[in-house]
Amino acid sequence: MKTENLTGTRRVWDLPVRVIHWSLLAAVAGAWASREIEGDWFRVHTWCGYAVLVLSATRLVWGFVGTRHARFASFVRGPAAVFRYARNLFTRQPDSATAGHNPLGGLMVLALLAMLLAQAITGLFANDQIMETGPLFGYVTAALSDRLTTFHKQLFDLLLAAVALHVVAALAYLFLKHDNLILPMITGRKPAARVPATDEIPGSRTWLAVVIALVLGGILYAIVRNAPEASLFVF
Ligand code: HEM
Repeated sequence: MKTENLTGTRRVWDLPVRVIHWSLLAAVAGAWASREIEGDWFRVHTWCGYAVLVLSATRLVWGFVGTRHARFASFVRGPAAVFRYARNLFTRQPDSATAGHNPLGGLMVLALLAMLLAQAITGLFANDQIMETGPLFGYVTAALSDRLTTFHKQLFDLLLAAVALHVVAALAYLFLKHDNLILPMITGRKPAARVPATDEIPGSRTWLAVVIALVLGGILYAIVRNAPEASLFVF
């Protein structure tokens, strides 16, 4: 009988997943800082918003055409599976039995992506009641823009809470379950002892993710460029 090699590591996360993840962190931090810091940083805020939009939309598409563990079909589970997993969370030892996202993590990924997309899209229509507006402000009434602005602000608080929970969860896995999920998000690899050889991904197909990001970025550019009052905005 053939025995599996349990030494070394196996590739689980492709390069696009990892680059998108850490770029999202930078873009969200940039968007936050550019609103918090004194001074005229609105242009930076807008560009960070564009980055969040293109990155999360690319990740959304990658969830259908990306490598095995990046696909929604591989980690989105029904409520029963999520509940079963949550119930046994701290009775099981390191549980990288799921090479990719576990059922709870999968839920978090969906929630984060939905919030990031909603955050960036509402920002396109928002206004700050003084002089700054999102690039698509001209497409909606002032009243609707105000409502979207309120939502944009409230959702950001929710997003920050979700990110905090997400980071606490990653640290809890590390310190309580001795399961390091953070390093694989950097290197793409998990210890071979935790990932069956059949679960290793062969390669990243990074070129495809780059094409998707360029196409989505191009669409955003065309929409913003052609928007009414577009000259006010930042391209
Ligand atoms: C604004 C900040 C952040 C956002 C928006 C964010 C969002 C996300 C998203 C969307 C995923 C799913 C990755 C994918 O499948 O493509 C993910 C996974 C992950 N993130 Fe974050 N993240 C943030 C910050 C962090 C930080 C600071 C850490 C480290 C402490 C972290 C650790 C992880 C880990 C370990 C995973 C993989 C979880 C698993 O193995 O199931 N994230 N994050």
